[in-house]
Amino acid sequence: MVSLHDYVGREQSYVKHVFLESYLEALVHKTASRYPHIVYVDGFAGPWQSANEKLEDTSFGIALNALRRAKGSWKEKQRDVRMSAYLVERDPSAYQQLTSVPARYPDITIKTYNDDFLTVLSKILKDLPRDAFTFFLIDPKGWRIRLRALEALLARPSSEVIFNFMFDFINRAASIRDPAIATGLDELIPFGDWRRELEEGERSGSVTRGTRKTILVGSFGQSLKQLGKYDYVAETTVLRPLKDRPLYCLFYATRHPKGIEVFRDCQIAALREESRTRASTKVKHVATTSGQGEFFQSLHEMAPDELESFLQDQHIEAEKTLLELAPESPIFLTYEKLRAQVLARHVVRHPDVNKIAARLRHENRLLFPDWEKGKRVPQPGYRTQRN
Ligand SMILES: C[S@@+](CC[C@H](N)C(=O)[O-])C[C@H]1O[C@@H](n2cnc3c(N)ncnc32)[C@H](O)[C@@H]1O
Repeated sequence: MVSLHDYVGREQSYVKHVFLESYLEALVHKTASRYPHIVYVDGFAGPWQSANEKLEDTSFGIALNALRRAKGSWKEKQRDVRMSAYLVERDPSAYQQLTSVPARYPDITIKTYNDDFLTVLSKILKDLPRDAFTFFLIDPKGWRIRLRALEALLARPSSEVIFNFMFDFINRAASIRDPAIATGLDELIPFGDWRRELEEGERSGSVTRGTRKTILVGSFGQSLKQLGKYDYVAETTVLRPLKDRPLYCLFYATRHPKGIEVFRDCQIAALREESRTRASTKVKHVATTSGQGEFFQSLHEMAPDELESFLQDQHIEAEKTLLELAPESPIFLTYEKLRAQVLARHVVRHPDVNKIAARLRHENRLLFPDWEKGKRVPQPGYRTQRN
């Protein structure tokens, strides 16, 4: 388990790692039930700012432990799954630390590469066995990356991707007129009408911080989706520890409805953890800078919980989307596909979408011709249509 003690002064990485840990834990185990081989690829592995002797506060440390646990639990059920990790780090001194890792995981095949990720990518893609399911993590330190250079990675079948989109830097870069920066942004976000939308919004004075984010995040999500031909792309935003401002967005791309379900579960758990740690980080910061800790602690306790009201709004939006996306009878969509589309758009958990769907059926606004007696919520294969 990742521990907050290892993340003093970089609490944003703690939130990222809380999310990564629960996501990999759930999905490595799940995919290992169908695939004989699971590979984790970390394109920008580090270690970077690690404070833990065993490197358990790094993305690859978290992934290796998840691979090990999934392998062990399948072994207990007499199923042997191969687990591998390919770790790339360009910096020679960080790479030196990385070379000590394979010896600690004899149960996992670990390949390390001291190289630039984009240079070594085609070799990695060739090395990946066809029968392996691959989890890619793309977490560069900066924002400049040509997304098309990742096209073969994004398009690999039996794979999914987490991509760290450095929103704060990208958002600032989007207002800079320098041609080199403009080219860099075009290469990062090759699809979508984001530049025209931002410029129009700026001209008319209608663009807020929120709409800027919607525009940039929307076009980047669309770019990932198109290049990788993914069915579902979603993101979770990590805030600055002390300021109420987005720092980066972790994008997730998958082709499987189960993936998006797990993503939302892990996201909501990570957002709640973020909300707790940010509150205590802010209180500690105020206490050390002003000595008025107790006063601010009680102020915080009285503050309305913004996260919970955000989640309530998302719940309402999810209901609207469920009704909008359900085709009118006699056309239908299977419930699993419809629910996954709702989950891809809103921060809600699948049991909550099930409850909404059951209520809409009760109110005769959604139809499920296959509903079986005694069922309380719709089943994945049910035909779903609007009345
Ligand atoms: C943000 S850190 C990665 C943090 C890590 N994912 C984690 O969560 O623990 C980015 C790492 O990528 C390395 N790096 C930067 N550019 C690279 C490149 N082109 N290819 C490979 N590694 C690179 C940096 O040296 C740094 O260690």
